[in-house]
Amino acid sequence: MTAPGHKPKDAPNPDSPNWNAPNFDRLARPYRWMEYLSFGRALERCRFHWLDRLRDRQQALVLGDGDGRFTARLLAVNPTLRVHALDGSRAMLAAMTRRAQRIAAAARLTTEQADLRLWPGPGATTLSGPIDLIATHFFLDCLTTDEVARLAQLLHAQAQPDALWVVSEFAIPARGWIRAPAAVLVSVLYRAFRLLTGLGPQQLPLYALALEQAGWRPYARHEHLRGLLVSELWRKERRRGTGQVAPDPIRPDGLKTMP
Ligand SMILES: C[S@@+](CC[C@H](N)C(=O)[O-])C[C@H]1O[C@@H](n2cnc3c(N)ncnc32)[C@H](O)[C@@H]1O
Repeated sequence: MTAPGHKPKDAPNPDSPNWNAPNFDRLARPYRWMEYLSFGRALERCRFHWLDRLRDRQQALVLGDGDGRFTARLLAVNPTLRVHALDGSRAMLAAMTRRAQRIAAAARLTTEQADLRLWPGPGATTLSGPIDLIATHFFLDCLTTDEVARLAQLLHAQAQPDALWVVSEFAIPARGWIRAPAAVLVSVLYRAFRLLTGLGPQQLPLYALALEQAGWRPYARHEHLRGLLVSELWRKERRRGTGQVAPDPIRPDGLKTMP
């Protein structure tokens, strides 16, 4: 996807050289320790940054949450929330379920193994209610921009009007001394994940552009480690009956870094 004017493809493209599904199964157990050894608690701080803002949500769709640390924390802080979690890795979903069981929240969690580039396929689970929260932490970077665009459009159509989308991602800051080391780090991470899981994409997708084009609006953003990591909140665009975009009553000034 290139910046303005880009038209995302409508359908997934299994002919693409990046098509093979990654397999994160063998990382399910060591994943947490690999993360702590490489980034300490920084990724965790990123995932949990907006948790307080999610306490009023009722039905969440959590995509690619891996071993389920975010999902477990979300279920714990919001005791009425139901979560449907989708991931391509059976072992990651099993780890998530064990975590939910440990906090007696498994009854509020359903899981589904699926390749999210093809979801929802013919056997996809029907959700028990309209979605008011989507969560993707370090998952959109497993997709191409076109794949993110497809998901963003699909989810926009399914989500409630007040739905929020919480995103954590790596970023390469546009300027400053951090830019070069950030680019190297991201490239090394992609190579490592290709080696360990067979991950196809090797560069960060333009996910912000894809979300905006699908009708999601940036609502709040927090940077960690000088902009190498971002925690973002997006909201479904409010439309009037005519299809016109209504002004956002909460943040008329658009996106700002929040404390
Ligand atoms: C890099 S891990 C991120 C895990 C976790 N969200 C975190 O914050 O660390 C990516 C996760 O997305 C899943 N995943 C990657 N590509 C996928 C795809 N095409 N369909 C479904 N799940 C996918 C992997 O199985 C893994 O659990």
